[in-house]
Amino acid sequence: MFVNKPPMGFNTWNTFAENISDEMIRETADAMVEKGLLAAGYQYLVIDDCWSKRQRDPETDKIVPDEKKFPHGMKAVSDYVHSKGLKFGMYSCAGVRTCADYPGSFGHEYLDAATFAEYGCDFLKYDYCYKPKDADGALLYRKISMALRSCGRDILLSACNWGCDDVHKWIRSTGAGMYRSTGDITDSFVSFRDIFLSQLDNFVYSAPGCFNDIDMLTVGMRNRGNVAASGCTDEEYRTEFALWCMFSAPLMLGCDVRNIDDVTLKLVTNPHLIRINQDEEGRPPFVANCCGDTKAGIYVKVMSDNELAILFCNLADDDRRMWLPLENIGIPVSSGKALRLTDVYTGEDAGAHKEYLMYRVPAHDTRMFIAKIVNA
Ligand code: GAL
Repeated sequence: MFVNKPPMGFNTWNTFAENISDEMIRETADAMVEKGLLAAGYQYLVIDDCWSKRQRDPETDKIVPDEKKFPHGMKAVSDYVHSKGLKFGMYSCAGVRTCADYPGSFGHEYLDAATFAEYGCDFLKYDYCYKPKDADGALLYRKISMALRSCGRDILLSACNWGCDDVHKWIRSTGAGMYRSTGDITDSFVSFRDIFLSQLDNFVYSAPGCFNDIDMLTVGMRNRGNVAASGCTDEEYRTEFALWCMFSAPLMLGCDVRNIDDVTLKLVTNPHLIRINQDEEGRPPFVANCCGDTKAGIYVKVMSDNELAILFCNLADDDRRMWLPLENIGIPVSSGKALRLTDVYTGEDAGAHKEYLMYRVPAHDTRMFIAKIVNA
């Protein structure tokens, strides 16, 4: 399947880990529709690790769902998810066991792809634990990709090898639609900051067809659930979401959307932020700082309809005055042009500016704009 925009949805892992069930998935599907998340673009509901029994069925060799968690089987869950207008995602692993020690797909790729197709699956996250040492990782992703491409259903392959083996260099050629490039996120500022910074040079390897996945969002988790750590302030969550949007990362919510709070809901459905993330040109931003300070980066993304997105992102621990000469983005004073800004967070007109932009940005916070080039 050709993935032309960063996939958007929800994944069970960050909050629920093994505490997943038929009921919880149905409630999540209901919430995604009722709270307007589907309408905002969040269409995949993905069940991560821990959904199956510990062993394959001895007769059929198939992976089978844990009947305590999913007493009606996976097809029933998938049918319910589809009945809500959502798409259904599942999880397996390139190795012999999954990371949480359930059966992996190594050596069973074609059988498992057929099983996922029977379930009515639309998305498969494919992990990297327990890979036999001598097995070639790129070949394992090619294998599952070919298995999915011949299983009779359109299934998006979401690779998850945490950035190992220079994955950005070869993953696109396998047919995957997105690829995890980092280790696991936890619910803290330091975690998302370091994940983002580790990929700063790799966002050029993210484009329509295959997007760099910097992990499921922790936005709105409020320090509850499986990857709880120190938690984040509202400003920090906003920074996280702004970075994911700006860098065209897949937007997979990880909070419990059944109980999502108003601040989080407003943030993750902000139409300007989503427009920036989903822009059809899918271009990577460039760094526009004059002094190369990556902790206080100014990023500019060229978008369709001659618009630009501009992010002033202060990941430092102190407030910063952030200065962007328009010359740095290719608009010198001699051009006679200015930038007319819309504040992405408030939706308000933020004026027309020539020569430079300058903002004081508090520690861990951001300012973000959509800009049009106009006559000065
Ligand atoms: C990790 C993966 C996580 C989650 C977990 C499940 O390898 O990075 O996102 O899927 O396995 O066990």
